[in-house]
Parts: sequence; structure tokens; C-alpha cells
Amino acid sequence: MSTCRICLDPVADSEVHPACARVLYGSTRVPLLDVDLAQIHTLGLAMAGRASISGVQRKVSLGIAVDRRTLQVATDGARYILKPQAGTFPFLPENEHLTMLIAAAFGLTVPSCGLLRLRDDTLAYLVERFDRPREGGKRRQEDFCQLAGLSPKEKYDGSAELCIRLVRRYASEPGIATLACFRLLLFGWWTGNGDMHLKNLSLLIGADGRHGLSPAYDLLCTRLVIADDPLALTVGGKKERLDRATWLRFAEYAAIPAAAAARVLDSPARVLDEALALCERSFLPAEQRANYAQLLRERAAVLG
Ligand SMILES: Nc1ncnc2c1ncn2[C@@H]1O[C@H](COP(=O)(O)OP(=O)(O)O)[C@@H](O)[C@H]1O
Ligand SMILES: [Mg+2]
Ligand SMILES: [Zn+2]
Repeated sequence: MSTCRICLDPVADSEVHPACARVLYGSTRVPLLDVDLAQIHTLGLAMAGRASISGVQRKVSLGIAVDRRTLQVATDGARYILKPQAGTFPFLPENEHLTMLIAAAFGLTVPSCGLLRLRDDTLAYLVERFDRPREGGKRRQEDFCQLAGLSPKEKYDGSAELCIRLVRRYASEPGIATLACFRLLLFGWWTGNGDMHLKNLSLLIGADGRHGLSPAYDLLCTRLVIADDPLALTVGGKKERLDRATWLRFAEYAAIPAAAAARVLDSPARVLDEALALCERSFLPAEQRANYAQLLRERAAVLG
């Protein structure tokens, strides 16, 4: 038995379940990646200067051939984003893939994703682009940094409360988007994400012109590689030592009904076993799996 690189369940004699491959690639077989690794490094973004994960991972857009047999670097018609290993922080692709699956279990909307083995035998994270729908066309997205009128450099100069004000102002259904934003921010805290800054939240503009919170992206547990990494955005003025009371006050600020807020705050405990099982089966090394599991347990308990 091995582990499916898409759903992390056991799979016999294969890298992925054919059904999982069909969802991600539109074919029961994993396509070959026709990419020179040097290309990824040339096309990727330069590393940011501060001690954060941000921009550390170089990435490329990939298209898939009509016969679904190969993936190629593409600018037009790109269906996927590929994020390979980053030299400075080990196992980010495995970390992001696991965190996205925990997010799905938690109830967030996430695009299809998986791990892909490159020619140098390392694993890269592959995610379907939600701004390029399968039926064609492009969807516009605006990240919270743009919505706030801030420059990309100012992406850490925000707060959870600012996110709520932006959603209230720009989302077509502010009530729904506010709750979705609250859940995403809580999830980021639960999973030790110190890189959920204003560019990692976006509104997606639908074919109907309506603005809603986009599917989740760039989710990972930065605390596995940066010890005690605090939150990127303050919640109630705090980046550390948050508890249930902090989140309840924030829910009040967001005008989320108490019962709905309580349901969200109980979600980590509700999906904890499933999250721990995913963690255990993930491609992270044993020490990172253990640290991640401990954090998930501790923070679910903090909310209890
Ligand atoms: N699945 C996706 N579909 C569409 N756009 C995406 C997706 N994932 C990320 N993006 C966009 O690409 C940008 C960079 O991706 P991200 O995962 O945040 O990489 P980085 O680790 O470099 O910040 C995001 O800010 C977002 O605008
Ligand atoms: Mg990002
Ligand atoms: Zn699978």
C-alpha cells in the first residue's frame, strides 16, 4: 500500500486513485510534467527580504495538453499553479497540500490539489486555478491588499477587523462572505499560519459579476519551519495568545450571530480526529507531523 498524492488515503500499486486523478487532471492517469526545473527558478519570484515564508516558494502556471498526458509551463490557458520545494524551508509543498486537505475537512472551499513528483524526485504542490474555470474564460480576483488601497509591501499592515470591513463593503452578500472570512481567519490561527496576510485573502468576481470570498489558497502551517511564528494580521489587537474570548469578541465585531460563531469555534474540535489522521498519513517527515498534530490538539483545546 502507498499513499495517494491527492487525497492521502491508502492506495494499492499506484501513486494516486484513478478517481482522484480524474478530479484533478480530468484523466485517470497522472500527466507527465514537461518542465525543466531551471525554468521554474527563472520564472519564479525573488525571495522576500524578511524572515517569512512569503514569496519564498517560486511558482509557475501550468497548462495541460488536450490529451491530458502532459503538463507544460503556460501563461495562457493555465489550469494549474505548481509550487516546488523551497531551498530555505523544507517540506512546504507537503505542508501546503496537507493543510488544504484539513481545510476541506474543516468546511472551507478549496480548489483541487495534490503533490506531483518532479524529475529530481522531489515533491511539488499542484493546485487547480479557480480564476480559470473549466468552461473557459477568466475570473477576476482582487486581494484584500488591493481592496484596502495598500501597496503589496503593506500586506502585513492589517487586521482581521480590516478584512471584515472590506468584505462588508465589497462582497455582494456581506453576511455570507463575513462568515466565510471569519472561518478562514480562524482556520489560519488553528493551523499555525503566520503568513495569512492581506494578499492571501481575495474576493473572486463570478461570471454573474457578483463578488464573494474566493476559494482558500496559500494555506500552510508556518510554525513548522519558523518556531512560534505569530499571526500575520492582528485579531483584537493580538497576534499571539488568542483564546475563545478573543474570537468571540471578533465575531461580535463582525456582527456574526452568537450561535453561528459558536459553531465555527467548535469546528476544530469537531474535525480534529480527521485532521490528525490526515496529518499522520501526510508526506511530512515524522517530526513535522508530530509538531503539527500537537498544535492542532492544543489550539482545538484552547477553543473548548
Ligand atoms: N488556486 C488558485 N487559483 C487562482 N489563483 C491563485 C490560486 N492560488 C493562488 N492564486 C493567486 O496567486 C497568488 C500567489 O499564490 P500563493 O499560493 O499565495 O503563492 P505565494 O506562496 O507565493 O504567496 C495568490 O496571491 C493568488 O492571487
Ligand atoms: Mg501568497
Ligand atoms: Zn486518492
